[in-house]
Amino acid sequence: ASPEEERMKEAHILAADYFQQLLLNTEEGEEGLRYLENRGFTRDMIETYGIGWSMPNWDSLTTLLQHKGFDLDEMEQGGLIIKREDGSGYFDRFRSRIMFPIRDDIGRIIAFSGRVINTEGEAAKYMNSPESPIFQKSKVLYNLDQARPVVRKERKLIIFEGFMDVLASKNANIHHGVATMGTSLTPQHIQKLKRITSQIIVCYDGDHAGWEAAKRAAEMLHAENLTVEVAVLPAGLDPDEYIRKNGAESFRDNIIAVPQSFISFMMMYAKRNKNFQYPNDVQQYADEALSYLTSGISPIERELYIKRLSEETQVSTETLQGQLRLKEAQQ
Ligand code: GTP
Ligand code: MN
Ligand code: MN
Ligand code: MN
Ligand code: MN
Repeated sequence: ASPEEERMKEAHILAADYFQQLLLNTEEGEEGLRYLENRGFTRDMIETYGIGWSMPNWDSLTTLLQHKGFDLDEMEQGGLIIKREDGSGYFDRFRSRIMFPIRDDIGRIIAFSGRVINTEGEAAKYMNSPESPIFQKSKVLYNLDQARPVVRKERKLIIFEGFMDVLASKNANIHHGVATMGTSLTPQHIQKLKRITSQIIVCYDGDHAGWEAAKRAAEMLHAENLTVEVAVLPAGLDPDEYIRKNGAESFRDNIIAVPQSFISFMMMYAKRNKNFQYPNDVQQYADEALSYLTSGISPIERELYIKRLSEETQVSTETLQGQLRLKEAQQ
């Protein structure tokens, strides 16, 4: 990395220490600390994950960086501070937020995500560092540095939607999870994953946005010849909420240990909003489900899915087989 990028990373270490000190040892940090405790974070975890608090002031980090001799223009490019519009100086990007450090593949802090305590106000729930020479969202996977050795052992990697889910899972003793930084999965992310494993479990939130995103992610991973499974959460819960409600053991045994295969998930997804009273819905569903059975699947699996499809739709396996042959002939 360039000397400029090195200095930006140095500044991020300084900022993270400063934020943590504010959270743990000052009156200003008490509200944030209480919030984290209510969400099940122990002091030990807070220190391990490097979590902190940013002051409500406009210039407390800016002043610190200046005192330590950092070039403020460079710090602005690194995303920590923002230039005033009238050109009279800089101000802190993050204020009154719980600060989560984001690390690169080798564990160096390259960005922050800041969460407001109260989501009722105008402010966005999370604010991330902007794109910078050291932080490109489309390439960063939260916790990849820590997850990598565990993934090699477990042979699988779990992708979550939010980094809070990664942290909740770590508390549940699941250490091979990563998350994108609020973006959908990109080809660059997938290239990174490919280098460490060929088996991915997608575990997104149990809501409409989560199912849509899980479907897109699963299709992308499948298209890259990775073995994809989808761990589906009950409606209304994300992994963190599931763990808090049902416990770590239930999360491991009833969610992570029993994911849907790619095809099962895609069939389940295709089936939603369908009413098999209507021949048209049956037709559409059968057509989509069969499209997943044309290639890259063993004869045994194929037969099992056709049986399932037949049971679901009441269409005979012979007819479904015929449709499938027709589809294959068209390809
Ligand atoms: P908690 O509410 O703290 O439990 O977070 P969550 O992980 O459940 O958040 P959610 O499911 O709403 O969103 C998943 C991910 O999307 C988060 O980890 C963020 O990276 C991102 N995200 C959510 N809300 C915002 C936002 O307001 N701004 C930005 N930039 N990203 C967000
Ligand atoms: Mn949201
Ligand atoms: Mn969500
Ligand atoms: Mn969520
Ligand atoms: Mn959540």
